[in-house]
Amino acid sequence: MINTSNILSDSFGRKHNYLRISLTEKCNLRCTYCMPESGVVLTPKSQLMTKEEVIDMARLFVNHGVTKIRFTGGEPLLRKDFPEILKTISQLPIELSLTTNAILVDRHIETFKTCDLKTINVSLDTLHPEKFNSITKRDQFDKAFNNIQLLMDEGFNVKLNVVLMKDFNEDEIIDFINFTKDKAITVRFIEFMPFDGNQWDKSKLVSYVEVIEKVRLYFSEEELIRLPNEENFTARNFKIKGYEGSFGIISSVTNPFCDSCNRIRLTANGKLKNCLFSNTETDLLTPYREGESIESIIKDAIFKKKAVRSGMTNLEDFENLDNHSNRSMITIGG
Ligand code: 5AD
Ligand code: SF4
Repeated sequence: MINTSNILSDSFGRKHNYLRISLTEKCNLRCTYCMPESGVVLTPKSQLMTKEEVIDMARLFVNHGVTKIRFTGGEPLLRKDFPEILKTISQLPIELSLTTNAILVDRHIETFKTCDLKTINVSLDTLHPEKFNSITKRDQFDKAFNNIQLLMDEGFNVKLNVVLMKDFNEDEIIDFINFTKDKAITVRFIEFMPFDGNQWDKSKLVSYVEVIEKVRLYFSEEELIRLPNEENFTARNFKIKGYEGSFGIISSVTNPFCDSCNRIRLTANGKLKNCLFSNTETDLLTPYREGESIESIIKDAIFKKKAVRSGMTNLEDFENLDNHSNRSMITIGG
């Protein structure tokens, strides 16, 4: 039964109907922008949500109005019980999706189909095998690339997440757009965001404006078509006239989209983050294990959500991150 007391609304009237659940802090790649070079201290298994706890948490949020759940990680497919979690949660009245690096995707195609997963987001930052090795520290380009093709062949909508970084892949913007020419795929360029240990620097950022400038140099005014924003959008979307696919730019750094934010996150160790950038987390798992009702805890945590990026309103705030420690992305979950 849907409870309408609305514990998922914040003080600005934003309703949070989109829950991202991180299933593991582990990953089979080592992307530099996500995983600190020194590694991360993994949470002991006893403090991570079990399969049953993930399912119970998902049910509770859905009962309170969540209509969309995305599984993230680390790499969510590394979890042995992933198929069971997906199958059970797919019975809930929600839109279900997944963010993966695609390395293990071929093992799960039948599960994805059974669970009616329609769209799958895949992280791929370069179309060159050597550059893939340098950014992920693993020699797995062919596996990832072939699995992306497999997903498309099997009829899934694929969205490629491309984190743009100066002197790394900004020279591939046009190649990625041309990749959408005869493939029904969406490429999303993501501005490089600062997290603990990822050596973020403003000089490494490729901004929305810079992407558009590059696109305009290559394509004519008439070829570049602006697509309408989706509800609760994160990407500003475009397509090139005559191309089958499309592309978007996610400008979390230079032009945040917090006004219409409907997203909340649950980490693998059962902590609620009301914003990707929030440096305070609310432990749900401990009180849940102690048999407490966690609804009021959730309500307080969401009500406290700040208007923009957990209080970092300006770009300058990112340059002063010492005042705003956060987890590394690997332990938050994209
Ligand atoms: N900046 C931008 N996007 C990031 N991701 C991970 N770390 C960062 C970062 N520092 C994105 C990746 C991945 C998703 C899980 O999160 O694109 O697809
Ligand atoms: Fe939402 Fe926070 Fe991201 Fe803004 S920064 S879009 S409020 S999660």
